[in-house]
Amino acid sequence: MLGRKSNGAAQVQPTAPVPAQSFRFATPVVQTPGVFILAGWMWRLVPFLLVLPFRFPVAVMSVAVSVALWHYTGWLGLAVAWSIADAVLLVWWRRWPRSFRDRVALRVLAAWRWAWTYQRHWQPVLVVSGLAESYLERQYLPRIRGVTCSAWADRVRVRIVAGTSPADFQKRVTELAHGFGAPSCRVEVRGPRDVVLEFPRYDTLADPIDALPIPEEPDLAALPVGICEDGEPWFLRLHGTHVLTVGVTGAGKGSVLWSAIRAMSSAIEVGIAEVWAIDPKRMELSYGLALFAHYAADAESAVALLEAAVAAMQERAERYAGRQRVHTPTTRDPFTVIVLDEVAFLTAYHPDRDIRRRAENAIATLTSQGRSVGFCVLAALQDPRKEVLNLRNLFPDKIALRLDEASQVDMVLGEGARDRGANAHLIDPELPGVGFVKLEGSPVPVRVRAAFVSDTHIDAMADAVAGAEG
Ligand SMILES: Nc1ncnc2c1ncn2[C@@H]1O[C@H](COP(=O)(O)OP(=O)(O)OP(=O)(O)O)[C@@H](O)[C@H]1O
Ligand SMILES: [Mg+2]
Repeated sequence: MLGRKSNGAAQVQPTAPVPAQSFRFATPVVQTPGVFILAGWMWRLVPFLLVLPFRFPVAVMSVAVSVALWHYTGWLGLAVAWSIADAVLLVWWRRWPRSFRDRVALRVLAAWRWAWTYQRHWQPVLVVSGLAESYLERQYLPRIRGVTCSAWADRVRVRIVAGTSPADFQKRVTELAHGFGAPSCRVEVRGPRDVVLEFPRYDTLADPIDALPIPEEPDLAALPVGICEDGEPWFLRLHGTHVLTVGVTGAGKGSVLWSAIRAMSSAIEVGIAEVWAIDPKRMELSYGLALFAHYAADAESAVALLEAAVAAMQERAERYAGRQRVHTPTTRDPFTVIVLDEVAFLTAYHPDRDIRRRAENAIATLTSQGRSVGFCVLAALQDPRKEVLNLRNLFPDKIALRLDEASQVDMVLGEGARDRGANAHLIDPELPGVGFVKLEGSPVPVRVRAAFVSDTHIDAMADAVAGAEG
């Protein structure tokens, strides 16, 4: 009555050993004598002690001198020596704070972070995140070569396990960041088996950046438009390139456009630069009408403006042909920036096919031929997919503000950008204006934030330009 029912699961009967199974060969279990374990520990301790003075020379030296002083002069001598050392450090800190920070504070911090954060958690974090390798039942871990600290980030230099690739780290930046309690992690490859993991200690771009001062004589190839994560200014090149800014609605594209216009506003004032603005939403650019040489909002006049720009560009190219190969901004031939907010309105969303085709043609002509004659297209776009803007590759420089999907990062910044830490899809919606860019001469994307140009600033700029013209 109580017989068990097999509720679906097959009951496994222990099978009778077949003759061949009656012998089992297994490695015998031998107890390791304690002396061998002790010797093993000593074997690892000796190299550690030998390396220590090279790794932390100042700390080891201080301890050695302290012990010697205590031995020869007793507690009193030690107390006097430490008081003098403290006084010297105090004076150094007050008198030369920068050099104190670089030579003392950040080095002490680096030693502390090495021991307390990275060395302590290294093995568990790497094993759990899948970065430890096993071979013949032995575990191989990447090794920390050193930790350095800058004012805002820790840089952990790592020797990776032979046979693995830095891409394994790049795929696990989220695990590493959480594992070591950092807001993010970036992987930089320095050489064979030589990788640097960069862990910011706090977000340097958390606070909005007020509009930057207007440069008197702006370098149109390096306009200050914001701040990079390391605190350096973010310079945007306009002269000699075209720039596409991509981000979801509310990502802060307007602040990139306005920061660029602001940075060159003194060139607009003297007439060696011009902005032609297209503003399909009528909300973004209309505020600074006085700053623009031409302005269009509805589709028909926007396309007419683009075609006029093409004509002006071709006329200039005609004059330069055979005489001049580079453009220098002058009042006769000003540097011309065509600012195009929401470019997809013209190239994809407009119902009239003819408008879409004409707009695309004009943008393609400007972006493919305008560079060397001083025409630049600075465009903003919400959705980077090909069906929305198949001209995106005609823009050499791109800015990825907050994006919807991880796959869009590489569409904007180029293949491999996300693996290198450009997590534009993870940008906090509370941080408009934050994005990733590739700076000249480096494949590693940099996190930046555009300065916020308020209506008051725009008014002031418009007044200054109107005053100069009037
Ligand atoms: N750099 C910035 N710093 C601080 N706040 C910003 C910054 N840029 C934008 N903002 C804030 O975010 C809001 C949205 O920004 P913005 O209008 O530039 O977004 P957008 O990307 O142009 O969106 P849309 O595609 O809808 O036009 C702004 O009203 C402003 O308050
Ligand atoms: Mg906008």
